[in-house]
Amino acid sequence: MSRKKKQSRLTARNADRHALYEQSVQNVEAEVDFVDRVFKKLRKRKASTLREDFCGTANTSAEWVRRRKTNFATGLDIDAATLKWGTEHHLAALKPHQRERVRLLQRDVLEPGDARDMDCILAMNFSYWCFHERATMKRYFESVRKSLKPDGIFFLDFYGGSEAFLDIEEERKQKGFTYVWEQDKFNPITGRVRCYIHFKFPDGSRMKRAFSYDWRVWTLPEMRDLLEESGFGPVTVYWEGDDGQGGGNGVFRPTLRGEACESFVCYIVAERAR
Ligand SMILES: C[S@@+](CC[C@H](N)C(=O)[O-])C[C@H]1O[C@@H](n2cnc3c(N)ncnc32)[C@H](O)[C@@H]1O
Repeated sequence: MSRKKKQSRLTARNADRHALYEQSVQNVEAEVDFVDRVFKKLRKRKASTLREDFCGTANTSAEWVRRRKTNFATGLDIDAATLKWGTEHHLAALKPHQRERVRLLQRDVLEPGDARDMDCILAMNFSYWCFHERATMKRYFESVRKSLKPDGIFFLDFYGGSEAFLDIEEERKQKGFTYVWEQDKFNPITGRVRCYIHFKFPDGSRMKRAFSYDWRVWTLPEMRDLLEESGFGPVTVYWEGDDGQGGGNGVFRPTLRGEACESFVCYIVAERAR
């Protein structure tokens, strides 16, 4: 084997957990395509200001400012180290005129301060499930509503299906490593579950609990009701089409008709009620 090939082999010692995470669970191009398409369809104009809540490495914010010169992004996250990684990797890779249209703020999404007047606010990768109490989730939704322009739209992703309520561990092969998703000790009384992302490598090494989440598993009817109570409407679920082989086709359409699958991912589009 050549020296170059040897060096590129991933192991638990040389891999970067943020890079592995992004490769395994993010597709920011598709996410931004969806937000752009739906906003334009509903508002008959292109969105310009976007706030990425729970932004982590700000991968989506970077994609947003790359799209158009008129786009501005604000990322909020409480974790300084993750924001630093995003600054050093994604923001550093932007051209200066793109870089100056992104700001990252180390801030709790419940206290967004001046991060207001947004066309769109995004809460992706189910991050808002860190709020366990209904009252706290409502406080968050109300705060998002206040941070939107009068015709602004709140985009959330959501996962569900019978598997969401089970203790499971599933693996997905990625290029050079294996992604492992674990739901541990789901409590049907409180809805609380601990979730972990682990990574496994071809040399047998493992990165255990590279990411940990303490979540409440919510249901779509609960979220739709709560968003409406928080001043949003219409609140619309965009359900993924079928690929004909038991999987999704990546095309999400508005509907009130879901399907009782073992697992699904969808988007919730919550328009600020005027
Ligand atoms: C699941 S990651 C999501 C990263 C990214 N948004 C994505 O789509 O993959 C959750 C992120 O939320 C951040 N976080 C958790 N609670 C928060 C809060 N109250 N306010 C702001 N950020 C928070 C964590 O630091 C972490 O970076």
